[in-house]
Amino acid sequence: MALFLEKDGIHLWFAYPDEINDQALLLSYADLLNDEEQNRWQRFHFARHRQQYLITRALLRTTLSCYRDIEPKAWRFDFNAYGKPEIAQSQNQTGLPIRFNLSHTDGLIMCGIALTHDVGVDVEHKAKDRASLNIAEHYFAKAEIAGLKQIPEHQKPQRFFEYWTLKEAYIKARGMGLSLPLDQFSFIMPEQQRVQIAFEPGMQDNPDHWQFWRLYPSPQHIAAVAVNAPPHNGFRLSACKVVPLQSRVPLPISAMLASSNNHSLA
Ligand SMILES: CC(C)(COP(=O)(O)OP(=O)(O)OC[C@H]1O[C@@H](n2cnc3c(N)ncnc32)[C@H](O)[C@@H]1OP(=O)(O)O)[C@@H](O)C(=O)NCCC(=O)NCCS
Repeated sequence: MALFLEKDGIHLWFAYPDEINDQALLLSYADLLNDEEQNRWQRFHFARHRQQYLITRALLRTTLSCYRDIEPKAWRFDFNAYGKPEIAQSQNQTGLPIRFNLSHTDGLIMCGIALTHDVGVDVEHKAKDRASLNIAEHYFAKAEIAGLKQIPEHQKPQRFFEYWTLKEAYIKARGMGLSLPLDQFSFIMPEQQRVQIAFEPGMQDNPDHWQFWRLYPSPQHIAAVAVNAPPHNGFRLSACKVVPLQSRVPLPISAMLASSNNHSLA
């Protein structure tokens, strides 16, 4: 039976590629790919990246089929000028349009699904050597760099990835990639309160049009979700761990959100 997605709901689907090693299952994922995806899949140099790509396609295609009576292999996608994929319009005309966004990193693939609203997701592995003040000074807004400098040393790597994933989730929801200047918007994360965004005037965007969440889907990963909807329209998140074509287990979203109080890196 088709899954029901509420107008103010965001479903998050997580696949853990290191746990998916059954060769027969992986082969059945390859059957879901269209010609272009088959070509891209074959071109990956490293087996690890090939497998990640395959599981990502399977996750997306099987997930979309949970919501509409369309076979996983039959989904078609359009891409905007910046490469953001969307369901082909001809397949998205029944009811409110389904929107999605994907993110993948070492050990985790994430897919966010919403109705109508632009949604963006980002997940990063908390590799310690990637969190540096140099990178922050290159990409982040002044207020974020100042925020990072102020907190105790042991909290910095986690805060770095929180900023990073929130910034990526926002630009991914906008669908305009790095054509958006990353230093022209900044995040404010008051303890126990909603994450807020602030824009420099040139961004021509309004903080009241957005909602954001920080998530901690594993001890090694930090993720963020952005949706283009005003905060008074309180969205609800729910999450599932999935092995495409095999299993689907609900994940307690409150536990993922609550570990925001843990500032240490695994
Ligand atoms: C391409 C980009 C949209 C995301 O890149 P990324 O963070 O490396 O990759 P993610 O795994 O999070 O997301 C990739 C997925 O986003 C989707 N995507 C591609 N272009 C997109 C766009 N313009 N907008 C939204 N989503 C997009 C695709 O589904 C893609 O996965 P797929 O190719 O397997 O289908 C873009 O933001 C980028 O190049 N970022 C570079 C990272 C960076 O320098 N960040 C600065 C730190 S704040």
